[in-house]
Amino acid sequence: MAFRQIGVVGCGLMGSGIAEVAARAGFPVVVREVTDELLTRGLERIDRSMARGVERGKLAAGDRDAARGRIRGTTRLADLAACDLVCEAIIEDMDQKKALYRELDGLCPPETVFASNTSSLSITEMASVTRRPARFLGLHFFNPVPVMKPVEMVRGLQTSDETLALARAFAEQVGKTVVACKDYPGFIVNLLLVPYLLDSIRALELGLATKEDMDTAITLGLNHPMGPFTLLDFVGIDTTYYIAEAMFEEFKDARYAAPPLMRKMVLAGLHGRKTGRGFYEYPAR
Ligand code: 3HC
Repeated sequence: MAFRQIGVVGCGLMGSGIAEVAARAGFPVVVREVTDELLTRGLERIDRSMARGVERGKLAAGDRDAARGRIRGTTRLADLAACDLVCEAIIEDMDQKKALYRELDGLCPPETVFASNTSSLSITEMASVTRRPARFLGLHFFNPVPVMKPVEMVRGLQTSDETLALARAFAEQVGKTVVACKDYPGFIVNLLLVPYLLDSIRALELGLATKEDMDTAITLGLNHPMGPFTLLDFVGIDTTYYIAEAMFEEFKDARYAAPPLMRKMVLAGLHGRKTGRGFYEYPAR
């Protein structure tokens, strides 16, 4: 059995990207947002991203139209009942995720595989509220999803080999390179990335250098496409904060403790590109 129809819950930065790559690979996709307004915004994000793909010569206009035709937006979770794989990309909040999975578990047949795009929360814990822990895994994509190659495939304590094989085949069909890991806070990338980002903010707090010079040092010195402050604005300071909090909660290690400046920026709504201001300013498009 292979997946035929894909459901995506959440049409934000990550959910819209997952819906886009699945539709571009030929899968019919149903994507769900909670309100009509959020759904419209999410579908517009997909349109903009695919237009960029066409402009950059990565996608033929006809293929773009066909892919867009395969994406159906909805605000009703019940519309995902016929999907074989449901990818969840909602807010990084365990209680909200559990509530969603309880509801989905009642709506979808037992064979449906659930995949969370969480970047740090426990797959095993989410799976525990469903009757399908063997058909539950993590599929963690990277931002921007249509451009970034890897997918972290996370095995929960009870995830079956069959589920992993199906999920790997799906991720490869949508053009991704699978890296496998166990259910551990931060998985591979965030376990290594988050302490680096937090240390960068700490270095700024102690006045080591300007953010511009630290970004320049990293882009030129390490050949990274973005320095830490540009990357924080890109990923979202709030998102990085929630990931750090989840890791701190688990390890109680100062390495994962969010610095005061970060917390203040989150409280002030300075979340990075998406709010127009983070460490840098982003004039409205
Ligand atoms: N579809 C397909 N291809 C696209 C595309 C689209 N919608 N949009 C752009 N592309 C292609 C371009 O054609 C280009 O390909 P080429 O190199 O073959 O010409 C490539 O993608 C880069 O696009 P651009 O030239 O438009 O953009 P930049 O060169 O400025 O790069 C960037 C933008 C890819 C975002 C780059 O700055 C980058 O890699 N930044 C780091 C991103 C990163 O680290 N992401 C991970 C964040 S961590 C995360 O997501 C985990 C979470 O849990 C926190």
